[in-house]
Amino acid sequence: MEDKKANIIAVTIIIGLIIFIIVARVSLKLSKAFFLIAGADIAVILAVFVCTVIRGRYHRRRRLLEKKLVSEGQELRIEYSFLRKVAGVPIKFRHKELVDATDNFQALLGQGASASVFKGILSDGTSVAVKQIEGEEHGEKEFKSEVAAIASVQHVNLVRLMGYCCLPGGPRFLVYEFIPNGSLDSWIFPGRETRNRPGGCLSWDLRYRVAIDVAKALSYLHHDCRSRILHLDVKPENILIDENYRAIVADFGLSKLMGKDESRVITTIRGTKGYLAPEWLLEHGVSEKSDIYSYGMVLLEMIGGRRNVTVIENGPDKSQRKWQYFPKIVRDKLREGKLIEAVDQRLVEAGGIIDERQVKRLVHVALWCIQERAKLRPSMAQVVEMLEGRVAVDEPPDTQMIVVDLLSIYEENSGCDARPKIAAMGSHKDYNIPNSCSSSFAMSVLSGR
Ligand SMILES: Nc1ncnc2c1ncn2[C@@H]1O[C@H](COP(=O)(O)OP(=O)(O)O)[C@@H](O)[C@H]1O
Ligand SMILES: [Mg+2]
Repeated sequence: MEDKKANIIAVTIIIGLIIFIIVARVSLKLSKAFFLIAGADIAVILAVFVCTVIRGRYHRRRRLLEKKLVSEGQELRIEYSFLRKVAGVPIKFRHKELVDATDNFQALLGQGASASVFKGILSDGTSVAVKQIEGEEHGEKEFKSEVAAIASVQHVNLVRLMGYCCLPGGPRFLVYEFIPNGSLDSWIFPGRETRNRPGGCLSWDLRYRVAIDVAKALSYLHHDCRSRILHLDVKPENILIDENYRAIVADFGLSKLMGKDESRVITTIRGTKGYLAPEWLLEHGVSEKSDIYSYGMVLLEMIGGRRNVTVIENGPDKSQRKWQYFPKIVRDKLREGKLIEAVDQRLVEAGGIIDERQVKRLVHVALWCIQERAKLRPSMAQVVEMLEGRVAVDEPPDTQMIVVDLLSIYEENSGCDARPKIAAMGSHKDYNIPNSCSSSFAMSVLSGR
């Protein structure tokens, strides 16, 4: 617009001056005054012409440059978002985007202690799982632990964090890649699948591969990251199964970062009963060996297709309840040479292929991992080597299996303070629980004696 105006002014000036020359020629004839006026006019006309040309060229160049800068900027932006995508850097989502993606949080995929996970589809078609973490203080802590642990790591067997969203004073959200086959519990324990949770009976081959996948993920967290990452909540519910039945370790809400030179961290008891290593309960501080204990417990559950600690109800009277401790059953079967009897009976009855050498190897590894003395447990890197058959697995030493699930004892005996007794059990040979507590029920079963 500006250019057009300037051009019109220049043309008007030139035409005006030419008319002025013509008028001067008519009125002044070929006098000296006419030549003076004509000379001056022609000089001005030339000056206006030159200025217009120079100005035009300058503007054309500027426009070209601007266009180039815009397209370069666009390219940069595209490159940047591409890099973010391939580098897996989590991005910040707007709450509205998550509401739209999940259709206002309709499809519940799963629920844990403090979070609900919903299925969603982003505007570019990517399927996601949106984890909504509730709770003011606890939620904040869990959100930070999860982001700190998972945002900087990349491994095929670890869930990928795509982004996050925080509402001031409201819930926090973590956006994960969607893993289509839900969690491992639905694939090893019967009757856990629902409409939004696929499940079934995982074949022996796939169970063995899942065991290796999880071991590789934990080995990466323990050995190959800049600071050691302890998961501290390894259990079937936190292991996801992808479309090819490969395992993806998820839920870093309780995780802890540990300096490479630290040997253990002191932290309050968290995690899930049934998978907690004795050192948690004895308050000796935790280390990567605590994850290895939980992993061993998960292996046994995968072998048996059942929970490690199960209650056998005996009528309505709670004091008549009996407890079965599966690791002890497995150890006895190993001694008797009848390991196949410890394997998930659904697999045996279906007549699928069960490699008995693999069963023995998996049981040996599991029993090594659940040794009460943390030092005896192998590292996760050694577990991978053992499971992949690169190193032989020795017969595991006998273990007392004393501190099995003291949190479940504690829960059963609310009103009776179990913690001091737990510490006492760790330091004495006599593991009897006083009868004043109805918790005396389990110790003989759980102690493995
Ligand atoms: N990325 C995902 N894809 C599919 N399902 C998921 C995903 N993340 C979690 N879930 C489901 O939601 C459940 C709870 O998620 P989790 O992260 O373990 O939450 P919490 O911290 O509350 O335990 C899981 O057991 C699983 O069934
Ligand atoms: Mg969980």
